[in-house]
Amino acid sequence: KQAADQLIIDAGQKQFGATTCTSCGMIYSADSLEDNFQHTQFHQRFLESIKFVADEVRKLADNELGFQQVSLSCPSKAKTYLFVNHDKMIVGCLITEHIRQAFRVLEQPDQTKDMSKPDFMEHHRAWCCSTTPETAICGVSRIWVFSLMRRQGIATRLVDTARNTFMYGSHLTKEEIAFSDPTPDGKLFATKYCET
Ligand code: ACO
Ligand code: ZN
Repeated sequence: KQAADQLIIDAGQKQFGATTCTSCGMIYSADSLEDNFQHTQFHQRFLESIKFVADEVRKLADNELGFQQVSLSCPSKAKTYLFVNHDKMIVGCLITEHIRQAFRVLEQPDQTKDMSKPDFMEHHRAWCCSTTPETAICGVSRIWVFSLMRRQGIATRLVDTARNTFMYGSHLTKEEIAFSDPTPDGKLFATKYCET
């Protein structure tokens, strides 16, 4: 009986030929020229619209962070995570980049212990860093949360999500994450996040 059911299902799929695109979510018949055409159009428009939104959010975050450069060092390798609230507003943004190593920020006499590690391009900046490279995989290039929604765990959830999804099928430890050139807010967050 099970075999018969299976046969019916298989036959149905073949005849119907419905495919769901994993990127844009459109259900279409891959066998139909017309459907394929419709899908290609929808797919492009859909991806462009979210790309546009992500770019706008990044610019907003850059503005607040005082970043002069508008583009990322390697945009194709960067991953953007957006936090959308119940009102469908984007209230958080995390941009990660693939890195190989990081340098730990050294303890400063007048500051508390710091676990944040600027990535390897940033070691010449103002923070005092160790000269021993440490393996890191995911670099937090930018993290930003809408000012009225801070201290509600949004940044924590964004970084948690990045750790689970940055590399397919693996879960990054907190040590494999490095924060590049953090702001004072970023340092406070990174210190708390990495120690727990
Ligand atoms: N002061 C003190 N402790 C803080 C602060 C802060 N400003 N922000 C976070 N923490 C610590 C707290 O211990 C907090 O837990 P608690 O609220 O229970 O005490 C813990 O980190 C977790 O904080 P979240 O709620 O997850 O962080 P939030 O959603 O508020 O986002 C962020 C933190 C992204 C730094 C936010 O303040 C922000 O957008 N600031 C402006 C932009 C910025 O400076 N971004 C960092 C740039 S550095 C970089 O991108 C690499
Ligand atoms: Zn598609």
